[in-house]
Amino acid sequence: MLPGVVVLVSDQPGRSALLAEALRGVGTCEVVGLDVDWSTRAAAIAVVADVDAARPAAMQCLLALQAQAWAGTAPLVCISQRTSDKALRQARVLGASACLPFYAEPHIVVTALLNLLNPNEGALNATIRQCAERAGAALTSLFNTASHDGRVDLQAIDSCVDPLLLALSDGGLARWLNTIRAHDNATYQHSLVVAGLAAQFATHIGFPEAQRQRLVRAALVHDVGKARIPRALLLKRGTLDADEAAVMRTHTVLGYEILRASRHADPAMLDAVRHHHEMLDGSGYPDGISGDAISDVVRFLTVCDIYAALTERRSYKPALPSDEAMTILQGMQGRIEPRFVQAFGQAVARAA
Ligand SMILES: [Fe+2]
Ligand SMILES: [Fe+2]
Repeated sequence: MLPGVVVLVSDQPGRSALLAEALRGVGTCEVVGLDVDWSTRAAAIAVVADVDAARPAAMQCLLALQAQAWAGTAPLVCISQRTSDKALRQARVLGASACLPFYAEPHIVVTALLNLLNPNEGALNATIRQCAERAGAALTSLFNTASHDGRVDLQAIDSCVDPLLLALSDGGLARWLNTIRAHDNATYQHSLVVAGLAAQFATHIGFPEAQRQRLVRAALVHDVGKARIPRALLLKRGTLDADEAAVMRTHTVLGYEILRASRHADPAMLDAVRHHHEMLDGSGYPDGISGDAISDVVRFLTVCDIYAALTERRSYKPALPSDEAMTILQGMQGRIEPRFVQAFGQAVARAA
């Protein structure tokens, strides 16, 4: 959060509370109406105007804002009730640094504002977004081929690994997770979240580059077997019954078979895809292996995978906050690797 006040001028009472709450992530947010007297207010770091700029009262309000000495350094984001060129031109004339349509969600308004307040922030966000879009496209293609019994080609996935590691080290995990959760197709969100967590975790532990690449690669494809699970089951609201859960569990072996048929899968990837739901006490699936039979690669990805699932919102459950997810992981003693849980907690806390 930045020091200073973000003023929200609103003549849209139905949504000002939600917008103000989001803006409190940027700075102290004060909500005012069109009758605000700018001359009696201290300088703000930014202004968001959620007003119908065609109304004379709104125009007067924004013109009076422009007359303030501090207005030149405080970006103004206008949320336009109309999306015509004329309305956008009018907003610019009234001093808008950026215009967004009325249907822009609060987190989009916050992102636009942060980009204006810190151009570096904008560049980093753009890098992360491009990287996420590229990885999302590679996953779309992978899942499509896998669902049609085709032989998958991992080259597109491979080409995302280094940019993803670089984007994470430049932009940070928090920015990656926010981008994935805000923009990406839900089907691939989970894989991209696990890949981001794996990149952060592997870097935190200090793994060499080749090992980091292997882990991110495996994380991206770990659930590829779900391409052959019926969509109705993947999208089902509520918990699965015993038969449905048994079908869902087959995604591990299906993924293994899909990738084994590809010439480019390495042994660590095959191991991770088949065994990422195995538990150290033998209670996992599909093979029920335990202890030393479970490799470090699998132990590593299992921690990332469980944390991702706990902190993701699903149709049948809300997203858990990070600290609650960590408490659950710490309570899985005997089932997942405690050394990795501890190190993972540090890696995630450092990124918060
Ligand atoms: Fe899985
Ligand atoms: Fe998973």
